[in-house]
Amino acid sequence: MKVFITREIPEEVREKLIGHDITVTEWTEKRDLKPEELIQYCKSHDALLSVGPNKINRPFLGACPHLKVIALNSVGYDNVDVAAAKELAIPVSNTPDVLSKATADTAFMLMMMVARKALYWHKTIMDGEWGFFEPMKETGIELQGKTLGIFGLGRIGFELAKSAKGAFDMPIIYYNRHQNEEAESKLGAKLVSFDQLLAQSDVLSIHANLSKETMGLFNKKTFAKMKKEAIFINTARGGLHNEDDLRQALENGVIAGAGLDVTNPEPMVPNNPLLFMKNATVLPHIGSSTFETRMAMIQLATDNIIAGLKGEKLLTPIW
Ligand code: DGY
Repeated sequence: MKVFITREIPEEVREKLIGHDITVTEWTEKRDLKPEELIQYCKSHDALLSVGPNKINRPFLGACPHLKVIALNSVGYDNVDVAAAKELAIPVSNTPDVLSKATADTAFMLMMMVARKALYWHKTIMDGEWGFFEPMKETGIELQGKTLGIFGLGRIGFELAKSAKGAFDMPIIYYNRHQNEEAESKLGAKLVSFDQLLAQSDVLSIHANLSKETMGLFNKKTFAKMKKEAIFINTARGGLHNEDDLRQALENGVIAGAGLDVTNPEPMVPNNPLLFMKNATVLPHIGSSTFETRMAMIQLATDNIIAGLKGEKLLTPIW
């Protein structure tokens, strides 16, 4: 059996696959594969371990119907045409749970950075502007007791809510399709309507999948319903917010600040105006980037490959 992996993997993970009599081919170039290259490699392999932004769409799946398993090294699967994979009976897995804490920590970090204008102050030093002390200049916002709104309170949202409650005693409100009983009983979280979430949140953090329903949901109209003191955080997918509308909302004081770990498109170009704004902090999609979490993700994806190639049930199937 042969697996194609779209990145280099840690030695111990490679050894584990080899130990299961699986031949490993890794993509070692420092660029993403073109769709036709991905197809070409996968044609001669039995499984795909997809790391990075590969499009597992209908053309790809149609060209590689022989694949016995596709394991994603991410929790998000908006890059996969799940309906097409089902039609072709190709099992697909993702990496839930193992990255929840690290991703929630990134949202927490962005919340803190934006509330205290940390990146702006860092840049003032680089610009030689650490000079005359002005006590009321570019002050931050206190988070103690402020309301945290969560759009999509699942595993990652829960971890963020827990940290925010513990650190700043922030009341938690959330908007979900389903009630989150654990968050309600353990953290006192309150389910609200979407409009209430927008109107009542001092910090609004997004933890939902990108889908037809959520694409561009945070836009001019929705920013206008938020508090002008509010901070918008997105660590989910850049497609959930409209970037031009967000920039204008920040420029015109419609909302106070934004922290983004995800952009649309990715990568963001280096001259994007958001990068030069005092009230915005942007990170290059590093939500799950801790050594422990990235190891746990690749181990889980690898275990899914092994299970799939043995014809066993995947550990964390998407379907
Ligand atoms: C995920 O796991 O979905 C992260 O955002 C990386 O893509």
